[in-house]
Amino acid sequence: MKRRLLIDEEIIQKRIKQLADEINHDYQGKELTLICILKGAIYFFTDLSRRINLPTELEFIRISSYHGENSTGHVDMKMGLDHSIKGRDVLIVEDIIDSGRTLSYLVDYLSLDEPNSIKICTLLDKPERRVVDGINVDYVGFKIKDRFVVGYGLDLDEEYRNLPNVECFTHDTYQNLQNDRYEIYKQLIKKNNS
Ligand code: IMP
Ligand code: MG
Repeated sequence: MKRRLLIDEEIIQKRIKQLADEINHDYQGKELTLICILKGAIYFFTDLSRRINLPTELEFIRISSYHGENSTGHVDMKMGLDHSIKGRDVLIVEDIIDSGRTLSYLVDYLSLDEPNSIKICTLLDKPERRVVDGINVDYVGFKIKDRFVVGYGLDLDEEYRNLPNVECFTHDTYQNLQNDRYEIYKQLIKKNNS
């Protein structure tokens, strides 16, 4: 399978600015705890958090549920919070939502600490792949088709995370991929006009 460009860095950055504007607006007058889900969300988290102009605490959780191109269905917490989030407004920053298992587990886990609110912000969402119902995703960068993507933090067995763009592995025709890229671009333009 070949690796092909899906979302370039300029489009990613434009969309991050839109998301940060939305978040700044929605949390006006509040203090925020941003939780980075390592390792995949690392670049998204650093780019997004620098555009947030509210009093903000940064926290990191390391969790994994994936081996190769398939979720194991088993969520493994490797590093937890180092401060309590009790009474805080929490925004989870994720790279991608696939089956929804990781987030469902995480929301339950974080709720035990009784934060004031928990919302979810993900760069990418693959809604067709969801197996867990009832996950409410508050901020989505781009909805994508069922494709396995790497780059900008996302990996395949720890490889490709540091690619600047989001790429995908595919046998697909050039035209199908162009259509996907166009659908992604439309999501950016739609937000600009709304
Ligand atoms: P979920 O628990 O099935 O929603 O999976 C979420 C996690 O799986 C994400 O945080 C990613 O680390 C990983 N993941 C899901 N889809 C992809 C992909 O297309 N490329 C790389 N990692 C992925
Ligand atoms: Mg991840």
